[in-house]
Amino acid sequence: MCGIVAYLGPKSVDSVLLVGLTRLEYRGYDSAGIAVLDNGEITVRKEKGKIKDLEDLLLTHPVEGTIGIGHTRWATHGEPNRQNAHPHVDNHGKVAVVHNGIIENHHTIRQELIEKGHVFHSETDTEVIPHLFEDYYKKHKDSAKALQETIARLDGRYAFVVLVEQEPDRLYFARSGSPLVYGRGRGESFLASDVSAIVPAAKEHLHIDNDQWGWITKDSLELRSKTGEAVPFEMSRTQIDVKALDRAGYDHFMLKEIHEQPGIVRRIIQSRMDDEGIVRFPEMNLPNDFLNRVTRCMITSAGTSWHAGIVGKFYLEQFARLSTEVDISSEFRYRNPIADGETLVMAISQSGETADTLAGIHQAKAKFCRVLSFVNVTTSSIARESNAFIDLMAGPEIGVASTKAYTAQLMNLLFYALFTAGIKWLVSKEEREQILHEIRLLPEKMEQILARADEIKKWASELRDSKDFVFLGRSFNHPTALEGALKLKEIAYVHASGYAGGEFKHGPIALISDQMPVICIAPQCDLYEKMVSNIEEVRSRKGRIISIYTEGDTIVPSKSDYSFAIPQCADYLTPILTVLPLQLFAYYSALERGCEPDQPRNLAKSVTVE
Ligand code: AGP
Repeated sequence: MCGIVAYLGPKSVDSVLLVGLTRLEYRGYDSAGIAVLDNGEITVRKEKGKIKDLEDLLLTHPVEGTIGIGHTRWATHGEPNRQNAHPHVDNHGKVAVVHNGIIENHHTIRQELIEKGHVFHSETDTEVIPHLFEDYYKKHKDSAKALQETIARLDGRYAFVVLVEQEPDRLYFARSGSPLVYGRGRGESFLASDVSAIVPAAKEHLHIDNDQWGWITKDSLELRSKTGEAVPFEMSRTQIDVKALDRAGYDHFMLKEIHEQPGIVRRIIQSRMDDEGIVRFPEMNLPNDFLNRVTRCMITSAGTSWHAGIVGKFYLEQFARLSTEVDISSEFRYRNPIADGETLVMAISQSGETADTLAGIHQAKAKFCRVLSFVNVTTSSIARESNAFIDLMAGPEIGVASTKAYTAQLMNLLFYALFTAGIKWLVSKEEREQILHEIRLLPEKMEQILARADEIKKWASELRDSKDFVFLGRSFNHPTALEGALKLKEIAYVHASGYAGGEFKHGPIALISDQMPVICIAPQCDLYEKMVSNIEEVRSRKGRIISIYTEGDTIVPSKSDYSFAIPQCADYLTPILTVLPLQLFAYYSALERGCEPDQPRNLAKSVTVE
């Protein structure tokens, strides 16, 4: 979390930094700041709140310059206020730093520096970096040496950029764990947490690797290894479509991304399936003989990606007959799982930067397991540290609440299960054709659902005073219940819990009263009758039923206060359809309750800290 951006070139640095920070705002939005070399002096402007608040500050307190650094924060150490906002400076204001990550040994370093006379102004871990740098600079009178010694003292994860007053034509940087990308345009250079912050100006880019550091000028990059050797590198052409980074006329990214889903699913179908219906993953470089030997899968992921993992387990077990475990990344990384060379560990992550998921990958590799990741950012740390990756192909997801990445995860997991079933000869040609036929019909069915968004908007309005919700689902739609509840919690700040229908009577049913809306995901598929029983149980206790059911079914709607029909489809495809009305419900509930759906409080898009 936290976004950093830095610029050196002919343009007015404040405007370049503001554009970059706005693009990175998904990474954190509780405070923001910039430091600019203005008339030879480091000038810092920072503000609590969003980039817009920083922009307003710059209108009344402008800065001028062509070299500078910027930061948008998601607080880890110290509350979100102006003092704790980045950039942080050294004792004399001659060194400024923006940082993404956590310096774990900051207490020790701070104490040591205080004893040497350094004065600290914030509660952040970051502030030790400019002070350490200042100390080593005093000793060496050389920024590169000062940086190298600074890095040697830091434990934890970081990507940071340093602006040094004495060096108006260079910016220094270092990376260990948190993402950092270098971008080069015409006579201008950039550093940023994510390439989206620096397009279209950065025509070429390079992802800085762990334990690398160096400096940039307006047209060059010097890259060093941990031990100080020059590292050769090759830049890649930047190919991000800037249009994908704006709201395209929608009020919010979340709404845009919800509506993008049928198109994304269509794209995934086209690229994963050839005309004969053969499934392919050209980017996944795991040999078929290894995949054939895999006896067990372990999925590790967090939040929405964990919910996708639960659906993935059903797919892998049903189609590929692979015994599969799913674990939350923050548990998996510490639980010393039993795994061997024939276990395939699958990491699922939209951002590819989730710290817990990344740590799980390290764990798995230490046990000699191969790791296959499902990522939406193919240059991310998770993609690069896995043995192979599958591109989710959802396109940049900006809304903090994950929507299109979730359906892209389900689609790719389904295709992966079918791919594995194919190499194990587990499905007949006829079965495969039937499955692929069903899949091809999916995008249109998704469009039909989204075209009825107004029905859901009405629910959100009529249920705007409800303080708690329960979501129930079974089998393929148990994860849908979890996901529906998560969406509502995270963007509308409404308490909601998702349960497997069968588990409901083991305690949660005590919650039911005439005040409690219960969202029942009850399409006509396996365990349909069991879901109908759940509905009866809630009704007989006067709970309010909101149901998602299959077109043509008359039973579920007749027992519901509100109901929404999804088109008929195969059981295993229902979670891709049933989640859509729930995403819309969360979105419209957020609007009804005056919440900002794209930037929910306390959250950040990529959780790069533990
Ligand atoms: C989703 O709406 C959430 N914001 C969150 O749960 C997210 O899915 C989780 O942090 C995992 O992120 P990842 O997919 O980028 O690893």
